[in-house]
Amino acid sequence: MSNKGLFIVKPVEPAGHVDAGEPVEGSLKGEATLKRTLTARHLVLLGVGAVIGAGIFVLTGQAAANHAGPAVTLSFIMAGFACALAGLCYAEFSALLPVSGSAYSFSYATLGEFVAWFIGWCLILEYLFASSTVAVGWSSYLISFITGTLGLPFPAELTQAPIDWKDGHFVSTGSLLNLPAIGIVAAVSGLCYVGITQSATANAIVVAIKVAVIACFLGFGAQYVDPANWTPFIPEAQGPGKFGFDGVTRAAAIVFFAYIGFDAVSTAAGEAKNPQRDMPLGILGSLAICTIIYIAVCLVLTGMTNYTLLGTAKPVVTAIEPYPALAWLKTATEIGAIAGLSSVILVMLMAQPRIFYSMSRDGLLPGLFGKIHPKYQTPYVGTVIVGVLACTLAGLMPLNVLGELVSMGTLLAFATVCAGVLVLRYTRPELARPFRVPVAIVICPLGVAACLYLFWQPFTEHWLIFVGWTVLGLAVYFGYGYRHSKLRRGH
Ligand code: ALA
Repeated sequence: MSNKGLFIVKPVEPAGHVDAGEPVEGSLKGEATLKRTLTARHLVLLGVGAVIGAGIFVLTGQAAANHAGPAVTLSFIMAGFACALAGLCYAEFSALLPVSGSAYSFSYATLGEFVAWFIGWCLILEYLFASSTVAVGWSSYLISFITGTLGLPFPAELTQAPIDWKDGHFVSTGSLLNLPAIGIVAAVSGLCYVGITQSATANAIVVAIKVAVIACFLGFGAQYVDPANWTPFIPEAQGPGKFGFDGVTRAAAIVFFAYIGFDAVSTAAGEAKNPQRDMPLGILGSLAICTIIYIAVCLVLTGMTNYTLLGTAKPVVTAIEPYPALAWLKTATEIGAIAGLSSVILVMLMAQPRIFYSMSRDGLLPGLFGKIHPKYQTPYVGTVIVGVLACTLAGLMPLNVLGELVSMGTLLAFATVCAGVLVLRYTRPELARPFRVPVAIVICPLGVAACLYLFWQPFTEHWLIFVGWTVLGLAVYFGYGYRHSKLRRGH
């Protein structure tokens, strides 16, 4: 293979970079120095802010009711295990290479351009599709708040996507579009356009609200737990992916969504005071906190209300509803979810244009995506394009399909990062690694295997959509990126 071939590798040069703030035009390499203000505590909060969202507030219910029963707790442990392995690998990479492109940049430095492109393409599923998915979850909580808590009317035809995915095919819902989901994506995109940065203080407030609401749910909800609801813990299998152990793994692939976002911490590396020490703390710390919270929430949720009743779009509220004494907690949960899910949407909608920005600076996407607004200094064209696409998806696609596509794309990115760590250990053993994955020879392959195993679960059902997505990506790469790549052209 020539060194200008498909698998050309971008030289590893650890350097400061920009992502969470505003990229600045000028430097050919797209590098810029940001104020290094974020401490380990900020990074942990950033992670928790980006992670806790629709996964726990929305998807847990479907996963428990349709796939795992009370054993959805085990599903969360399984998904958390895969994420912990990937998290260790992200920690090694982001301390070594504090750059903005996340898994895309890590792959470019290890497995070559073609893989990097593919991972960048998968990251679109992670960030763009995830923002739409979370927006659909946000919409359920908002509508519940407006119609239930406030007792105001809301037109039913504007509350959900026109199609849903049931038993292997699309069915019509009778609705026109999901207006609140479109509204929140448009509003947050507007903020991203004018350059709201991931303000550590604003994020800390939202995280505090979110965590306080969850703490109340755990503290007060635990008093209403009936252990009889946990039996049978793993309901008897009723077919492929429906209960039994198969159902638990199927649910693990669904709730994996709940962990997505800890890797977004790595994109703030350019603003960390001491990235070498604090990136691993931020990534692994937020992951550990979220895992503990998730396990506790699952136990209380399935203990308060029988799993068969939890298959709604707002399972935490559903679990509280039967208890009149907890009416205040229902309102608090809705407000916590509405605030908390917005911050996840914000992080996702900020990250996507910045990944496009990195790809555009490498010549793999048109220069349009690298354009910086003269006044706001944001990648404004990319932000608008991402906003329009995310609004369309949020308004028209059902949450279950969106969520699974997001998980599939992210799992492939995670598997690649795990493989990349091992590859770089062999190709560049001399690089100083401030954080090292322990027993990498075991952890990295295990991480790849765990992520691919979870990837495989939804792939068997949605493989056609995923293959279609990949083919589209290949067409864009060979139609544009392959010919314009700056690295291959020696720029
Ligand atoms: N982990 C994020 C959520 O659950 C994407 O909303």
